Amino acid sequence: MAKHKLGVIVGSNRRESINRKLAQALVRLSAGAFEAKFFQIDDLPMYNQDREQPVPEPVARFKAEIEAADALLFVTPEHNRSIPAVLKNAIDWGARPYGKTSWPDKPAAVIGTSGGAISTAVAQQHLRAVLGNQGLHLMGGEAYIQFKPDLIDAQSEVTDETVRKFLKAYLDQLAGFAGRFAQPAAVAAA
Ligand SMILES: Cc1cc2nc3c(=O)[nH]c(=O)nc-3n(C[C@H](O)[C@H](O)[C@H](O)COP(=O)(O)O)c2cc1C
Repeated sequence: MAKHKLGVIVGSNRRESINRKLAQALVRLSAGAFEAKFFQIDDLPMYNQDREQPVPEPVARFKAEIEAADALLFVTPEHNRSIPAVLKNAIDWGARPYGKTSWPDKPAAVIGTSGGAISTAVAQQHLRAVLGNQGLHLMGGEAYIQFKPDLIDAQSEVTDETVRKFLKAYLDQLAGFAGRFAQPAAVAAA
């Protein structure tokens, strides 16, 4: 059976992003269950309605990537108890120009990490509201990962057994969830 094409969107433009580390660990832990691709968002210009016709080249690339994906995985930090600006900017571009949103009907999962006790819970709630408004299908459950300096090693392995089991179950759930939206081959080919 063909693998689901999973678009991974990390809501950070930081070189040493712990959320990118988590995303890389998730891809590794999925052991090839998905055809995963990281979508770049840090080269998208600041959203400006004056620049929609035509959209800048990085935006066209990003929208095409979304549209080609079977499912999306958002791995986000929390900034001031909300969605980081770089991620909100990407979501806004994906939704535009008016009538040409790239988001509707994509199955999507949200996860994130920070060192805080409630991790990225508030940002994830804000993100869910925005994505729901754009018509994505959001996987249920909650995944707030409290980051510790040694949680993920240099090989992208999760070192804590409890967290690793939790993330594996999360990935299994995502594979099943994405499968519910996959088109049967005969329909897809028609
Ligand atoms: C502007 C800013 C706001 C932040 N606000 C929060 C916050 O509301 N909650 C939280 O848990 N951490 C917050 N942090 C700390 C981040 O969790 C931390 O910087 C983390 O490394 C960001 O993820 P990243 O490494 O993937 O970019 C904030 C950091 C910055 C730079």
